[in-house]
Amino acid sequence: MNLVFLGPPGAGKGTIASQAKTHYDIPHISTGDLFRNNIKNETELGKQVKAILASGNLVPDSVTIAMVKDRLSEDDAKKGFILDGFPRTIAQAEALKEMTGLDAVVNFVLDREDIVKRLSGRRVCKSTGKTYHIIYSPPKVEGIDDETGESLIQRDDDKEEAIINRLAVYDKQTEPLIAYYREKGILIDIDAKPAPEEVFASMVKLLQK
Ligand code: AP5
Ligand code: ZN
Repeated sequence: MNLVFLGPPGAGKGTIASQAKTHYDIPHISTGDLFRNNIKNETELGKQVKAILASGNLVPDSVTIAMVKDRLSEDDAKKGFILDGFPRTIAQAEALKEMTGLDAVVNFVLDREDIVKRLSGRRVCKSTGKTYHIIYSPPKVEGIDDETGESLIQRDDDKEEAIINRLAVYDKQTEPLIAYYREKGILIDIDAKPAPEEVFASMVKLLQK
């Protein structure tokens, strides 16, 4: 199954993808995670994109498209994939069309108030990137990852100023993709407000149709 997860920042794309990848046995390919891993490992690409991610702006299309093309050419993506956070511009969607077909684009729908609550309360494990929320999915011990015992941090782009910018960037550059994919007849709207288990179950049901 070839899936794209589309939706505003903080809508729960990564959270649902981590359940869906096991359920469908396909890799979860998050462009945000790929960039953050490059930043952590201090690669050339990481140095190039660090400030862009911190500000909440988009990495240039050419860089992002090349990275995704590479990743999709790996063996594990042959059986299907969940692309999370890509495409984010019409140019990226056009490039993806040249690389592969899609079975569905899942559009995570969430209001602004909940988006801001989710982003501002998100905490991640420094080394594995595992995601928590201080209220909705807290770790067993405050500020500490359940598995690694390392401290949890806030993503640079979850600070208030970057959140405001990310939402503006989403409205301008990514929201038009909803109409783009709806017109192609492959868009599935998912109400992202309920608890993750419920969001996941309704997505699986809709994908069966
Ligand atoms: P990226 O990492 O893709 O960030 P994003 O799209 O802004 O999405 P998030 O990861 O913030 O949100 P999410 O929907 O995954 O939510 P999550 O599941 O974590 O991109 C980061 C940056 O990389 C971009 O700004 C850009 O610079 C660059 N980039 C990436 N892709 C690019 C591209 N294609 N082109 C150019 N640049 C690109 O959940 C959020 C919180 O809510 C968590 O705390 C979670 O625990 C909680 N939560 C989740 N679901 C629920 C629920 N159902 N109920 C209650 N709480 C929930
Ligand atoms: Zn994410």
